Amino acid sequence: SAAEKGGWPSFMAKEVSEEPEAVANTIRGRVHPGAEGGEVVIPELDGLDELFVGIRHIIVIACGTAAYAGQTGAYAIEQWTRIPVSVELAHEFRYRDPVIGDDTLVVSISQSGETMDTLMAVKYAHEKGAKTLSICNTQGATIPRESDAVIYTHAGPEVAVASTKAFVAQITALYLLALHVGRVRGVLSAAESADHVRELEAIPAKIQRVLDEEQAHIEQFSHWMADTQSVLFLGRHVGYPVALEGALKLKEISYIHAEGFAAGELKHGPIALIEPGQPVFVIVPSPRESAELHKKVVSNIQEIRARGARVIVVAEEGDAAVLPFADEVLRIPLAGPFFEPLLAVVPLHIFAMGLANAKGLDVDQPRNLAKSVTVE
Ligand code: G6P
Repeated sequence: SAAEKGGWPSFMAKEVSEEPEAVANTIRGRVHPGAEGGEVVIPELDGLDELFVGIRHIIVIACGTAAYAGQTGAYAIEQWTRIPVSVELAHEFRYRDPVIGDDTLVVSISQSGETMDTLMAVKYAHEKGAKTLSICNTQGATIPRESDAVIYTHAGPEVAVASTKAFVAQITALYLLALHVGRVRGVLSAAESADHVRELEAIPAKIQRVLDEEQAHIEQFSHWMADTQSVLFLGRHVGYPVALEGALKLKEISYIHAEGFAAGELKHGPIALIEPGQPVFVIVPSPRESAELHKKVVSNIQEIRARGARVIVVAEEGDAAVLPFADEVLRIPLAGPFFEPLLAVVPLHIFAMGLANAKGLDVDQPRNLAKSVTVE
């Protein structure tokens, strides 16, 4: 009903507007003041340090948007814990006789906690002796009940079929987990961890700024794209899973063919798709965090622009290098290493919604899809 949507035209619009609080609520109660600054303390993991002690491998399993959250979080988990991380689609994981055992931590991610593919992968991991931790948005759901430990995301109920606020909450929970494990294993100092906590705590206000400053702009240009047949998304490093998520959202709710690519892969194939007028979103890495990657992605932009692509960049405020080659520039505030995805995904969610609205589609109930897929 209209009241349930809180005055928004759709649940998806309401849920995108709730991305800042989804992050804030997922952090809340899990950061304590420490001598060096904020320290991550996850009450649900109290007394469960043994889950992280003998671990030599972390495997993240999920489906759909949750898998892209996993792919995003994997960079920070590996960096902050120095444990090798791989990310797998839950339905692929179980059927290839994976090498797992009691030195493996399987982290599952599921908004609903009921996705059958993910549940079966968790059960399988458990049978093989792996340790299992669930990241879930639904209290008491089946997947957390079948896991050794759970970190709940506090995004609040998500009604629209396409996941938005749960995605940013899942990445937030993965970062909290990474900081916790990094500290338990002595990889991160209290001061390093506190720096990351400060960055994380600043994210909700920065997401709010993206919503306030870019929403009207994006909705406007998504209208001229209503007849677009195909949209490509390019990203590199943590921007790569953001590109995948941007493409998925577009497929899900606007029924437009969309693909996400790793920007470095462009020259190995996808560049053949570029013809005049082809819209391409490019998630540009921060020039402050990595001048090298930034330069490479800017040169990708030049290459596609030279072939007539219509380039829409998502770039950090102050990044002027992208201006000469961009048809549209979507700005995100500065954020610390690994935190850009929590900002860069917001314009992509708004864009998918704007385009679906421009086509007159029901953004909350896309055809052929279910919110929670409880069959294999
Ligand atoms: C379905 C939904 C997707 C969602 C995926 C995983 O396919 O349509 O939006 O990302 O399931 O759902 P989960 O509840 O496990 O996060």
